[in-house]
Amino acid sequence: MHLACIMDGNGRWATRRHLPRTAGHTAGEENLAEVVRQCVRRDVDWLTVFGFSTENWVRPRREVRHILGLHEKLFGRVAELNELNVRITWIGRPFDDPSARTPRYVQRAIHKAIADTSSNTGMTLTVAFDYGSRAEIVDAARRAKALGRPVTADDLSRAMYLPDMPPVDVVVRTSGERRVSNFLLWQAAGAPIYFSDETWPDFSADDIDAALNLARAHQRS
Ligand code: FPP
Repeated sequence: MHLACIMDGNGRWATRRHLPRTAGHTAGEENLAEVVRQCVRRDVDWLTVFGFSTENWVRPRREVRHILGLHEKLFGRVAELNELNVRITWIGRPFDDPSARTPRYVQRAIHKAIADTSSNTGMTLTVAFDYGSRAEIVDAARRAKALGRPVTADDLSRAMYLPDMPPVDVVVRTSGERRVSNFLLWQAAGAPIYFSDETWPDFSADDIDAALNLARAHQRS
């Protein structure tokens, strides 16, 4: 089972509590750690989360810096991930891409977490950072074209950032936002979408169960 989450509404969660938006992101990262534990308990094979998009760089500098720090924190949870037998991976614009902007300290945290959890055999947690689905597909198309023959859907699948990533079984979007994002457009084609009105920091184990049930009902139909 592959669950993919668009973690929306951190800002709204904070504003409702008269807190700065950054406090909402902090709560969002903490809830992500809890969602990881709950997914492991439910034998989810793949959990992919949208941490930071190619469009998010235009947010206020302070907020961007805070979100980058939270990624460093998340990728630093190696002991916890090892205890859960979770392997962490990343998708996003390659660091050597001319338009990539990931600072060195985040690159290092990502590389280290991937290396330090690579032998785990349980769930795969993939964090999309500096990620945009259209950029991924454009890159894949360029690489597939270099094969020098008419490009097939299989060629494109193999040229995605993580060729081993299985198709998404259900997309979750929180915070009452009922729209598609620039997230896993290739991998999630045909998947049902579970819309939750909860903001991401309040997204609960019951919501995970509801999303997984939606995926199972869709598989049976
Ligand atoms: C959406 O809330 C959230 C983001 C743009 C950033 C996602 C970051 C986190 C969930 C925290 C850390 C997670 C990782 C992977 C380290 P929003 O700011 O768009 O909220 P709003 O729609 O209420 O303004």
